[in-house]
Amino acid sequence: MSTKRPIKIAPSILTADFGRLADEVQAAEAGGADYIHLDVMDGRFVPNLSFGPSIVAAVRAATQLPLDVHLMIEDPDRYLADFAEAGATFLTVHVEACIHLHRTVQRITELGCRAGVTLNPATPVEALREIIPFVDMVLVMSVNPGFGAQRFIETATNKLRRVRRMVEELNPLCDVEVDGGIDTHNIDDVVRSGANVIVVGSAVFNSRAPVAENIAALRKAARGALWREI
Ligand code: DX5
Ligand code: ZN
Repeated sequence: MSTKRPIKIAPSILTADFGRLADEVQAAEAGGADYIHLDVMDGRFVPNLSFGPSIVAAVRAATQLPLDVHLMIEDPDRYLADFAEAGATFLTVHVEACIHLHRTVQRITELGCRAGVTLNPATPVEALREIIPFVDMVLVMSVNPGFGAQRFIETATNKLRRVRRMVEELNPLCDVEVDGGIDTHNIDDVVRSGANVIVVGSAVFNSRAPVAENIAALRKAARGALWREI
């Protein structure tokens, strides 16, 4: 089966200037971003701390774009309602962090959010099989979560192909997202491998070029590279 759909670019604010966060987010929106990706870290599930619901609410007030909230936290059930109230559109949890993943996904949906699940680079694709029918998005991590500006793990493209096949089989409307180390050199590969939502942090928010220019360069690099069965 072959599916064609336009890709979405989701800039991650992790490397944005937090002193000018509203401006940064608005620059991404004006530059053609589709979602804003927010990386929540608890210093336990990942070895880094970032921010919580108050920053999500601040971003909610600054943009009309859907907010794609990536929870890199242990036992995320404790905070789902807070992030929903802060304005999250998507809430994505790690399969490694949830004992009762189906219940967590159900709760996200009940809160009125779109449910995403993700897995660390060393977690097998098979961990997704039973939950795919219940989610709106699957996220393939292409770096070990916790930090921006890391190097893309090359085996992620093969993993994306296997995830895309599983999604086509079990829930064809589900999005396949990729996160970590994406830039103009590899965006075409990840799209061809099956990703249709592309998270990009340091290749969008950096001191080398304006945000809009960076987004345009990514779109150009991915042009025409809509997913097809390989
Ligand atoms: C990693 C985060 C990513 C990260 C992406 O823990 O989940 O969203 O910020 O940043 P880049 O694109 O710089 O790898
Ligand atoms: Zn992320």
